[in-house]
Amino acid sequence: MTTTTVEAVNLGKRFKDTAALDGFDLSARSGTVLGLLGPNGAGKTTTVRILTTLLRFDTGSATVAGFDVARDARQVRRRIGLTGQQTAVDEVLTARQNLVLFGRLFRLTKARARERADRLLDQFGLQDAADRQAKGFSGGMKRRLDLAASMILAPQVLFLDEPTTGLDPAGRREVWDAVSGLAADGTTVVLTTHYLDEADRLCDRIAVIDHGRNLVDDTPSGLKRRMGADRLEIVAADPADLPALHAIVAAVADGETVTDEAASSVSAPVKESVAALTAAATSVRDQDLTVADIGLRRPTLDEAFLELIGTDTKEERR
Ligand SMILES: Nc1ncnc2c1ncn2[C@@H]1O[C@H](COP(=O)(O)OP(=O)(O)OP(=O)(O)O)[C@@H](O)[C@H]1O
Ligand SMILES: [Mg+2]
Repeated sequence: MTTTTVEAVNLGKRFKDTAALDGFDLSARSGTVLGLLGPNGAGKTTTVRILTTLLRFDTGSATVAGFDVARDARQVRRRIGLTGQQTAVDEVLTARQNLVLFGRLFRLTKARARERADRLLDQFGLQDAADRQAKGFSGGMKRRLDLAASMILAPQVLFLDEPTTGLDPAGRREVWDAVSGLAADGTTVVLTTHYLDEADRLCDRIAVIDHGRNLVDDTPSGLKRRMGADRLEIVAADPADLPALHAIVAAVADGETVTDEAASSVSAPVKESVAALTAAATSVRDQDLTVADIGLRRPTLDEAFLELIGTDTKEERR
């Protein structure tokens, strides 16, 4: 039987004249990973703070682990873990000391805190580094220690706010493995991220949020299917030709045409991909332009995301 562990309906939250959340819905089933994806200021952290009882909301309702977030905040707090955007690890202490300290803060007995620390060091692959000071840890190790600390009470639901921001690819992979392991053991995970590849890799479902509202709620593969169009891309031999190439691509585009100055390229989604490629190539020849490359390729997930949240949003946020 699957149950819903996190359910929020029509959440509204204003900060003075900013509507941080504007009728936002969210739902995560037990033992799954839900990704909350959206640009800066979309309302991700606000949602996490509301669901973890750190922030009051104006309208709507929310339950976590079967308890009402507004009315039964204490019951909710006993059943959740939270890792924020900043690390909570004490660098002077060893990994083990950090975990025991967290256990004690949550009022575990000394023996129980040690036992939990030991189990978590195992679970997060930190046994070898257990008795070293955390200040010598890599970013990935620190973040894993952070995750371990938020799991001290073996919560049913774990909230992670940008768990891999600032980590290198190896560190991100380490954290991903740790999160996947937790979900496999039955923990429900709600995580926020800016990275579609991360959401793709980790999440059972992805809720895309922008301006405090639901944009899309889908599985990763469903999301990718929605963004399926091939892209036509032309790489300029001479950057001075970029405006002319932009016009050529825009004429056959089915969506926004993007110029990437750094890559000296112009690209856009296209529907009839071969026809579009042929037409663009003909225009290039007719205008006597020289190009370094012209071709079709699959969209990257980041492009798909930008396409989804739209040009207006991007401009507004610069
Ligand atoms: N304490 C606050 N006071 C005033 N405005 C706030 C406060 N917290 C958030 N906001 C505003 O609410 C909106 C949503 O912010 P939130 O932090 O939830 O975004 P986010 O999706 O987590 O963004 P980021 O990706 O940058 O972390 C933003 O416009 C933000 O400026
Ligand atoms: Mg945030």
